[in-house]
Amino acid sequence: MVRKIRGIEDVLEGPSRTFDEFSLLTGYTPKGCTIESVSLEQDLCGLTMKAPLLSAAMMSVTGFELALELARNGGLGVVPASLSVDEQVAIIRGLKEQDMPLIEDYVFVLPNEPVFEVLRKAKEHGHSTIPVVDKFRNFLGIFDANIFNQGNDDAPLKVASNSPISDVMQPAKKLYSCREGMSLKDMQKKFSELTQRCIPIVNRKGQLVRLAFKRDIENPQVAAAASSQSGWEERVEACINAGADMIVFDSSHGFNYYQEKTITQYKKNSHFKHVPVCGGNVITAEGFRCLAKAGADAVKVGMSIGSICITAGVKGTGRGQFTAVYEAVKARDEFCKRRKYIPIIADGGISFSGQMVIALTIADFLMMGNYFNRFYEAAGEALDEHGNVIDRAKEPSRIKYIATWGEGSERAKNHARYGHITKRTLFAEGVEGRVGYAGRMKPNLRRDVNAIKAALRDTGSMDLPEFRKKAVIELRSEHSLAESQVHGVQDYK
Ligand code: IMP
Repeated sequence: MVRKIRGIEDVLEGPSRTFDEFSLLTGYTPKGCTIESVSLEQDLCGLTMKAPLLSAAMMSVTGFELALELARNGGLGVVPASLSVDEQVAIIRGLKEQDMPLIEDYVFVLPNEPVFEVLRKAKEHGHSTIPVVDKFRNFLGIFDANIFNQGNDDAPLKVASNSPISDVMQPAKKLYSCREGMSLKDMQKKFSELTQRCIPIVNRKGQLVRLAFKRDIENPQVAAAASSQSGWEERVEACINAGADMIVFDSSHGFNYYQEKTITQYKKNSHFKHVPVCGGNVITAEGFRCLAKAGADAVKVGMSIGSICITAGVKGTGRGQFTAVYEAVKARDEFCKRRKYIPIIADGGISFSGQMVIALTIADFLMMGNYFNRFYEAAGEALDEHGNVIDRAKEPSRIKYIATWGEGSERAKNHARYGHITKRTLFAEGVEGRVGYAGRMKPNLRRDVNAIKAALRDTGSMDLPEFRKKAVIELRSEHSLAESQVHGVQDYK
């Protein structure tokens, strides 16, 4: 269904547009439509995504740590095809087989620590669940920062910020805890019976040994990128055998004979076809139709708009991302009247929650490189203020930047993504650089997911499909754009 855009004729007949040029109009918010009640959960070709976000298949972005943390937070990491097959498989297998559910190096606090200090620790580490123990590590209770903060918004908890944490924790006697040695299966069963999100595991003396989180016990989802150049079957087979939940054929220009043929063959292969396949990238309706007819289960859109991309300057190809996604969505809406619904993934050019919101008025899912590259968990090296590489685990407070490099850069040498087969044809389509460090993924993601939920609420939408139907966006004039940013204020943070 074509979305509602005010002044649609001008928008489509004029030059190509990007997300920053639009603003979202508000709609009536009914009773009960709140940030807490809005859901961002959607199905991506059979995968349940609690957040509509994928990390870019980029060497500097998606490695083991980022894919794991994103999976834990409801998104999907796409492991890049610029890695060797063995490296890609090691990441996927590591995610699927690791014994991750039981957190041993948990952050704990003592019962007399003041509330403000515990909130500070929770924010710093990106945890909302903090166990409270005595000096012998005996388990005393759990402090849940989420419950505490919500209490503050809606019905302020009458607790001074210097009160001891023991005043506001959930005491051990009111919580289910288990002994060491409980099997994962039993733990999963227990979680299905409880409302608790976390089970403390204690030893015979009552000392806290580990924490098990419900979200960690669920199977972490991960996708693998591949190219359609010869030898693709070996990579795809290895990744599927390792447990990849989706295969993403990742090309800067996916509207081509090779990808069309590869997707058709993929869909005929009895070992592969049970795993959903995404094609791309395209920027036109014809491009979408080509991959959709070949059998793609999802289609990725975007060219020349990535943060590290020099394609437009070098080759002149590309399109403003709003227009590219809009055209693909229109073609999809026609296509799904006769055939299946194909989710559109908007890939690139999105780094802030406001852009995510505008993109989600048309796209089903978002893929981001720059956004995730800034986090502790990103695969790029951690750098100090002088640009020197440092050990992020040993010196987290010294991280100022994270290294970034495009798949089309000299460093990644992802020649297949750019259709270079012989060395003679090579030229770079991406740059290397660094991005400002933004801290751990979890608190950043939580803030931005809440901002997206707030936008849905402001249009009276309870979920993303409803949002895509209801959202009305409007072009901003240059003056209005300038006004929508901070102005007339100096030295602000
Ligand atoms: P970002 O979110 O703006 O950083 O864009 C990320 C997207 O840029 C990726 O998912 C790719 O589609 C694309 N990309 C990655 N590396 C390069 C490159 O070297 N040149 C052009 N585009 C790239």
